[in-house]
Amino acid sequence: MRERLEALKEEALRELEQAQDSQQLNDLRVKYLGKKGPLTEILRGMGALSAEERPVIGQVANEVRGAIEQVLEAKQEQLTREETNARLRKETIDVTLPGRRRDAGAVHPLNKVIQEIEDIFLGMGYTVAEGPEVEQDYYNFEALNLPKNHPARDMQDSFYITDDILMRTHTSPVQVRTMERMKGEVPVKIICPGKVYRRDDDDATHSHLFTQIEGLVIDRNIRMSDLKGTLLQFVQEMFGQDTRIRLRPSFFPFTEPSAEVDVSCMMCKGSGCRTCKQTGWLEILGSGMVHPRVLEMAGYDPNEYSGFAFGMGVERIAMLKYGIDDIRHFYTNDLRFLKQFVHV
Ligand code: PHE
Repeated sequence: MRERLEALKEEALRELEQAQDSQQLNDLRVKYLGKKGPLTEILRGMGALSAEERPVIGQVANEVRGAIEQVLEAKQEQLTREETNARLRKETIDVTLPGRRRDAGAVHPLNKVIQEIEDIFLGMGYTVAEGPEVEQDYYNFEALNLPKNHPARDMQDSFYITDDILMRTHTSPVQVRTMERMKGEVPVKIICPGKVYRRDDDDATHSHLFTQIEGLVIDRNIRMSDLKGTLLQFVQEMFGQDTRIRLRPSFFPFTEPSAEVDVSCMMCKGSGCRTCKQTGWLEILGSGMVHPRVLEMAGYDPNEYSGFAFGMGVERIAMLKYGIDDIRHFYTNDLRFLKQFVHV
């Protein structure tokens, strides 16, 4: 019995020594110490031994078990360490590899200018309003005092979808929609940025799609001087404190009186250059006092309320600000163009 136990111990220790991984080690644990293993079998057979032999063999059996367990434990520790090390080696990252540089995007110059204009007007207490680009004839024209067959509709050649639906030709319909939403409440103080569409042949200064920002203020006692002061404040924040403005009489069906607004040329400070065609002035805005008919149609009593409105083309302002010579650059997404605005 003792020899069997000794032989068992030797065999077990030899096999354990050769175990390659935790799985094998576990199999050996079951093989030698499990319920169906030889050690259990020997211990079970102890009943057949004499009373003197039993404690002696029992002790040897316990020693054998203890020895096997000890080696198992040590081996387990060793294997776990080796396996962890192997995994860590496999997972090492070579931090000296050069990284892959990601192209950083940039805000599009048009959006930059829109944000800048919005910031200036937000600072004056305006809110930003938006509306649909596919618009009803009523909001785009009729409610702005441009009835069907009115000759001034030709000023804005339009893309019609049906007889009554078109791509908006300006952002003024947002003003009408806002007035309707406000249900006669004052003050109305909004700016409306957005895309507009006109049937134009595209060239360096014209595009069938472009971007406008319009403003609208309605309250009691709003006067032309409020319009002028607001626009002066705006252009000075936008183009510099030494910028001057000049109002020229003009015509829009939805404003009366109407004025075209020129700013002193920011390139030559008004002395005359190529940008301002030697005039010293640049035309950037249409504006006027909201026509009583427009107020009335939108639910504002023109005897109680008055307002002013203005509209500008964002592309034109961006072109002046950044010295861009062709409007088509804004839409063609040439990275050589766009990358110039990463840091401005
Ligand atoms: N809606 C006009 C246009 O697109 C601009 C404008 C707006 C003029 C507001 C006066 C007042 O031409």
